[in-house]
Amino acid sequence: MPDRANRRWLLAKRPRGDITEANFEWNETTVPSLEDGQYLARNLWFAYGPTQRLLMGSADPADANEGSTKIGETMPAFAISEIVESRHPVFKVGDVVHGGAGWEDYSVADGTGFAPTYRVPEGVPPDWAIGVFGLTGLAAYFGVSEIAKPKPGEIFVISGAAGGVGSLAVQLAKIRGARVIGIAGSVAKCDWLVRAAGVEGAINYHTEDVAKRLTELCPDGLDIFFDNDGGPTLDLAIQRLRQGGRIVLCGATSLYPATELPPGPSHYLQLVMVNGRMEGLLARDYIPRLSEAVDAMLPLLRSGRLKPADDVLVGLRNAPQGLIRLYAGQNIGRQLLRMDDNTPAA
Ligand SMILES: NC(=O)c1ccc[n+]([C@@H]2O[C@H](COP(=O)([O-])OP(=O)(O)OC[C@H]3O[C@@H](n4cnc5c(N)ncnc54)[C@H](OP(=O)(O)O)[C@@H]3O)[C@@H](O)[C@H]2O)c1
Repeated sequence: MPDRANRRWLLAKRPRGDITEANFEWNETTVPSLEDGQYLARNLWFAYGPTQRLLMGSADPADANEGSTKIGETMPAFAISEIVESRHPVFKVGDVVHGGAGWEDYSVADGTGFAPTYRVPEGVPPDWAIGVFGLTGLAAYFGVSEIAKPKPGEIFVISGAAGGVGSLAVQLAKIRGARVIGIAGSVAKCDWLVRAAGVEGAINYHTEDVAKRLTELCPDGLDIFFDNDGGPTLDLAIQRLRQGGRIVLCGATSLYPATELPPGPSHYLQLVMVNGRMEGLLARDYIPRLSEAVDAMLPLLRSGRLKPADDVLVGLRNAPQGLIRLYAGQNIGRQLLRMDDNTPAA
């Protein structure tokens, strides 16, 4: 068989400040032969997450993050891929898998690495597999159903509300009858939250005083805070937590590019006063329970009650743009990339 061509993006420079196209380099090569225990996957869809920035490391001398990706290596990606060759004992030709790959046409993998590998469940199209049933969706689903557990009428406040995790968590909380207040970074995102997701209140943290707005929108406090951004909003939420309140620690996007960590929340004693709980969540630990998320969310997706807000780029050439858009706050919903127009979607 002739060598398969492989187009790819390499990590060229670690970021210092904003991620730009200069951090990456386009490269064309051929795929290597497989060794025992490996498979070759044709990449169909990529998802983007702020943790990719951590994998890139930092060029700032004040930042100790050296990154796990070496300069000149293919940029790592969360992907849905179809296995086209296999010398792996578990993953076979024809399997469609969620897993760690790279920004490239084909990835050689062994089923381990930064993104867990699992077969896409039957009946789930690839864009739902990478979004709603990928790590983003698992974080939103189990964060809401296992930790937040909103009851009808409870006040559910969430940061990063119009991003991948946020856009799903907001809808799941609404479906459970919560009153939702979303915090996001642009007028377009706040519009989406109010008009499309139907939240009770939206706060643009770039232009509004979050403390003042929270006091206006929930004068009697809040029951749940779902934190995607980290940073000062967490402390504002703890201060306003009501009896039996819950805080879900999902992510800290604002801290990933930071060279110095800010002081932790100073109002934590409020957790004592209200018998409150603050709990972290790691989506990959819930993969053994993926079928529960599928059983709960597939009917919601099919009936249209849950509408994934996917922000889709097309074509490998555009791969860096997804990460640039994410850190410029331009994505509404999950930032995805479909490899080409012929790749199937829901
Ligand atoms: N615990 C888990 O297992 C798990 C799983 C998946 C994701 N996560 C975490 O959940 C969070 C959301 O992930 P996601 O994939 O859904 O990403 P996302 O929210 O779709 O995208 C990131 C968003 O963060 C905001 N942002 C960008 N740069 C920022 C900065 N410097 N400071 C503060 N905010 C910034 C932007 O929204 P605004 O315009 O609104 O600021 C941007 O749209 C991340 O922290 C991620 O690491 C955790």
